[in-house]
Amino acid sequence: MTQVVSESSEGQTNGVLEMMELLCIDVLEEEEEQVLQSSDNTEPTQFSKNVLRKQRHWERKLAARKSKRKEEKLRRKLNRCSGHSEQLQISKRVTKAAAEERLAEARTNGVKVCVDLSMSHRMSDKETSRLAAQLRRLYGANKRASRPFHVFLTSLREDSRLMAECVRMNDGFLNYAMERTERSCLDVFPQESVVYLSPDAEEALEQVERDKVYVLGGLVDESVQKTLSLSRAKELGVRVARLPIDEHMRKTPNDKNFHSKILAINQVFDIMLTVFDTGSWTKALDEYFPRAKGYVVPQNNGHDDT
Ligand SMILES: C[S@@+](CC[C@H](N)C(=O)[O-])C[C@H]1O[C@@H](n2cnc3c(N)ncnc32)[C@H](O)[C@@H]1O
Repeated sequence: MTQVVSESSEGQTNGVLEMMELLCIDVLEEEEEQVLQSSDNTEPTQFSKNVLRKQRHWERKLAARKSKRKEEKLRRKLNRCSGHSEQLQISKRVTKAAAEERLAEARTNGVKVCVDLSMSHRMSDKETSRLAAQLRRLYGANKRASRPFHVFLTSLREDSRLMAECVRMNDGFLNYAMERTERSCLDVFPQESVVYLSPDAEEALEQVERDKVYVLGGLVDESVQKTLSLSRAKELGVRVARLPIDEHMRKTPNDKNFHSKILAINQVFDIMLTVFDTGSWTKALDEYFPRAKGYVVPQNNGHDDT
């Protein structure tokens, strides 16, 4: 804004200067005219020539000044633009560095969330690609989170279809700031610390605790293979819990009378991140539970749970 004002006042000053110069030419012309009239008309051509020469001289000077001003204006504009994009670059670098720092901190002190990929052989090629995309989204959400989790991918075989798809589809997958192992989750974590998340569990999860490891079943099942993660949890002999959807949401009427509590792993992950950050299930479910699943958080709920 300041820039605009100063430019316009500069423009006015330049305009006044031009006017004065033109007036000067007029005065000169008038004086020379008088000299011509008062003379005995013996040398009129010489005087007229001088006036014309001076006029041309001033015109050239004015044109040069005008183009110099234009150039200057353009240069200032370019400076402003390059300054702006430089600032943008710096702020991008700062944001990236801060995210890297948060992720590094999460790898030492963060709450552990594990994706159990031991069931990936049960998926079609298409489902495998969708799971690879969900892992990318999950990682993206973790990078943006103010309190990211320490993420583990377990039972991920290096020579598997899923691994190949993750590398093919996800830029920089091999350098993601998370742990990858071919070992099973129980080879990595003590049994008593594991809470396996399953939509079919009886127990509703109440909070996200620091000393627990939350395990997500790495599955995309377009044709639903019911209770797969529940069976896996039972096989491992670990505690199993579901998101508290019944406790905080209600069904919404829809044309197809469709209601589903089964989410993709990245959606469950978003909800867990928000609950951990805010302590509010209603806020997390309201923000991240997809409306198309046929549930909503009643509006008078007020996001004040803990
Ligand atoms: C697409 S779901 C897999 C559904 C599959 N039919 C099953 O048996 O779990 C992928 C994973 O997300 C998690 N998940 C999805 N919805 C959930 C819910 N409502 N509560 C808890 N975990 C859920 C579970 O860990 C699940 O294994």
